[in-house]
Amino acid sequence: MRKSLIAGNWKMHGSLSQVKSLVDNIKQGAGAYTDIDILVLPVFVHLALVHDLLSHTPVMWGAQNLYLGTQGAYTGEVSGPMLKELGCQYVLIGHSERRTIFREDLPLLAAKFKAALDAGLKPILCVGETRAQRENGETEAVVREQLESVIAFAGISAFAQAVIAYEPVWAIGTGLTATPEQAQEVHAYIRDLITQNNVDIAKTIRILYGGSMKPDNAASLLAKPDIDGGLIGGASLDAGSFLAICAAASREPTAAIK
Ligand code: PGA
Repeated sequence: MRKSLIAGNWKMHGSLSQVKSLVDNIKQGAGAYTDIDILVLPVFVHLALVHDLLSHTPVMWGAQNLYLGTQGAYTGEVSGPMLKELGCQYVLIGHSERRTIFREDLPLLAAKFKAALDAGLKPILCVGETRAQRENGETEAVVREQLESVIAFAGISAFAQAVIAYEPVWAIGTGLTATPEQAQEVHAYIRDLITQNNVDIAKTIRILYGGSMKPDNAASLLAKPDIDGGLIGGASLDAGSFLAICAAASREPTAAIK
């Protein structure tokens, strides 16, 4: 049985005071859901605050990006060991906004995936197709290329420490959600692809769905056999919505009562 992971991708949002109140509210509610993993992903400059607020609580935190190596002349960048020192456990790699807006290509993302592992961080590798690619029937080919480029560089054994997030680009921040059936189809495809490389890792690796996951659609998505959690953008900025998604993922009796 894979433990569900509910991760909040806060993107470039929040002031120090907003982050403090969001974290305080999540912290208060999170204790009810001990059978799932809960993770928040603030911007770099809020990580020290989040570290202070969430240390010794069950809620984990991580980063949205990193750069290669440990330190060096890379103006504006942050390394894996720096994130690790701030208590980060996870880091997003290859979010579609990084792939498109910041032009991060397959070789760079494969290197970032490995850099995360080298720093002792768990990478959450984001994959997914655009609307045009889906309409052209290219969804599987796109997802395969995004995964295989990392497998070829880092090796399949690296995925024992990783999480995959399937995020159809057309569903991110648009209010459009993949139906549970559409999402399950791609999740099963991803798990099959991992199975072809390593059966044991395929059984244990968590594959999250992301793309307008909200309290009202979370339960039906999370009920699918290959959907092991969610990567939540917009709805994670509201503690009530984020905790409602945690409740949908949890099998705790207290969660069912809510
Ligand atoms: P969304 O974002 O939930 O706002 O669609 C998801 C993501 O980009 O990770």
